[in-house]
Amino acid sequence: MNPRTPPLGWNTWNTFGEKINEQLILESADKFIELGLKDAGYEYVVIDDCWSLRERDPKTNEIVPDPAKFPHGMKFIADYIHSKGLKFGMYSCAGTRTCGDYPGSYDHEFLDARTFARWGVDFLKYDYCDMPFGGQAEFYYRRMGQALRLSGRDILFSACNWGSEDVWRWIRTTGAGMYRSTGDIFDAFGSMKDIAVGQLPKFDTSAPGCFNDMDMLTVGMYRQGNVARGDAAQTFDEYRVQFALWCVYGAPLMLGCDIRKMDKDILALVTNKELLAIDQDPLALQPYAPETCWPNKEEPRVVARLLDGKDLALLFVNLGENDAWGRFHLERVGLPYQSGMKLRLRDVFSRKVSSSGRDTISYHIPPHTCQVYRATPVKA
Ligand code: GLA
Repeated sequence: MNPRTPPLGWNTWNTFGEKINEQLILESADKFIELGLKDAGYEYVVIDDCWSLRERDPKTNEIVPDPAKFPHGMKFIADYIHSKGLKFGMYSCAGTRTCGDYPGSYDHEFLDARTFARWGVDFLKYDYCDMPFGGQAEFYYRRMGQALRLSGRDILFSACNWGSEDVWRWIRTTGAGMYRSTGDIFDAFGSMKDIAVGQLPKFDTSAPGCFNDMDMLTVGMYRQGNVARGDAAQTFDEYRVQFALWCVYGAPLMLGCDIRKMDKDILALVTNKELLAIDQDPLALQPYAPETCWPNKEEPRVVARLLDGKDLALLFVNLGENDAWGRFHLERVGLPYQSGMKLRLRDVFSRKVSSSGRDTISYHIPPHTCQVYRATPVKA
């Protein structure tokens, strides 16, 4: 089944890169339960690149889990994850080698899909390195899409060709349930900002069945791990901006930090029920940016999304370096003065309720911060 709301989980790549093993996966699965991540809706435990031996088994041609990293094999891991009521994700690549130079699935798609199904895999991230012929992503992703559909197991297909080759035009024809609409994220504010800004022209390409994937979150990494960049660690406020953007955009939420070591502020952020309810809104309608910045019109100032019922999500964000002051006109979300409405604003972080004026909301947003409201139209 393709997802009706964005998938939620955790992936090894951002923090651990090739340093992955059985113990890490089992401990992390335990943490999903202990920390309440499962209760909050996180379900996929995903092993990214670098899990196999460098070559296929010469007899069976199958990809072989590295016994030094995964001594009991992948079925064992899948069984453990399933015993916790969670789902198991793995990784392969459309090319002959993965991005980390392990065997890819090119020309072995059907064999590999059967192997993944036998192991009990529920999710496959499918990368785009080492392609024998460039410019044919559509063709390769359609092959693996068919292989998974015919594998005998319901496996969510998570395509990852970094937004190249106008992927949004054809990705739904492959059966994918989510697809990377961006390049790789790094644990630096600028990288996160580029991804968030780059999504604005792609808002209309994400919908139930197949969601725009803005890459794994760097929230809570604090420069520990594989995708650390820059001199200074991001601040808690910056991670809050990232998580809020992903939720209001309605993106898949794949945690990328070491969840065994999350501090309590990060845990509270990623399990914030009101934010997650926005991400997981059952209608999964398209977000939009009713107000962008000046003079940089590509940068969002306000992002809105209609939610199930009468409410809407409203994000005020400042990705720039100076304080932002202004008045937001409700007519930009379809509520002109003559509607007779104002907005009741519930702050999803402080849980405080305030009210807009009949036609505007005044805002002040310090740099690298945001405010998120669940807004209800009420009589002015
Ligand atoms: C690519 C992907 C990343 C990660 C690495 C693994 O760069 O975009 O998300 O999977 O490969 O090598």
